Amino acid sequence: MMLLERVTELREKVEKEVITTVDALEIFRIKYLSKKGELSALFEDLKVAAKEEKRELGKTLNDLKQLAEAKFKELSESIESLSTKDSNQLDLSLPPVSNTTGNLHPLNLTRYKIIEIFERLGFSVADGPEIEDDWHNFSALNFPENHPAREMQDTFFVDRNPDFLLRTHTSNVQIRLMEKQTPPIRSIMPGRVYRNEAISARAHCFFHQIEGLYVDKNVGFADLKQTLFQFAKELYGKDIEIRFRPSFFPFTEPSAEIDITCLICHGKGCNVCKYSGWVEIAGSGMVHPNVLKNCGIDPEEYTGFAFGMGVERVTQLRYGVNDLRLYSENDVRFLKQFKAVF
Ligand code: PHE
Repeated sequence: MMLLERVTELREKVEKEVITTVDALEIFRIKYLSKKGELSALFEDLKVAAKEEKRELGKTLNDLKQLAEAKFKELSESIESLSTKDSNQLDLSLPPVSNTTGNLHPLNLTRYKIIEIFERLGFSVADGPEIEDDWHNFSALNFPENHPAREMQDTFFVDRNPDFLLRTHTSNVQIRLMEKQTPPIRSIMPGRVYRNEAISARAHCFFHQIEGLYVDKNVGFADLKQTLFQFAKELYGKDIEIRFRPSFFPFTEPSAEIDITCLICHGKGCNVCKYSGWVEIAGSGMVHPNVLKNCGIDPEEYTGFAFGMGVERVTQLRYGVNDLRLYSENDVRFLKQFKAVF
């Protein structure tokens, strides 16, 4: 093909190009205007053209070059204005698209917080079955058969085999740990537990507990007291006071209920603390020698303390939740109020 024809053809191609994107514009530049582009190739060929044609051809080719450059400039300007026009169309005053990430359940927030505190005090976390046998839930814990203490922890029994029941506390995990491990044992046991109780604002047929167990040589009541005092201060703040009230559990001797200053009235007296200024947060005591024996641990060599608290109760004091049923109703209006405060 003659050089002139090729120039004319290229001119038509350049004129027809329609470009709307930055990428296409770059392809246009490389194709026509770069050193390796089609125009440069034609200029190379011009060098070897016949002398008498050179003037005319050179002029046409230069015109085409100007045309391509002008088109490139025009296209880049229009693409640039297009993209700024786009961003001008964004309405920055609109409210953002809401972030629908959920949050943790208040009982889980409390559970994690309690675990975190005890882990720092050197306790590990242990787990066990919710469907349990009589031995691990009652007998090994020094509840004799037909003893009235069982009455306080009535539960649900498996019809076909009443030796199996839904555990009433996570103390079953204490037994399982002591049966398996030789002391030192220092663990907490979080989990769901069941009681046969009518559902009301203050009671439910299931709730959550965290119990703790520390068995080693020379573990005394002072260790129990200081551990729980430290825990209460970490959870509720430095100004909290703690008191131990004598109590009874078949599996601990001596036993004590643990009270802290009422957080609602700060000790002045209100209906939450029944005008006493104190609220109960946990049961505790020194592990009964019979329980150690039942698990193959020599009570002459080892002693230990245990405690147990209800997660619902602790959560109530942290957040002021006044009805137990709210925890399991799955009402989003209730649930979404709780933010992780670690
Ligand atoms: N297991 C007791 C309960 O569920 C709580 C407790 C645990 C008390 C350990 C003392 C020691 O009521």
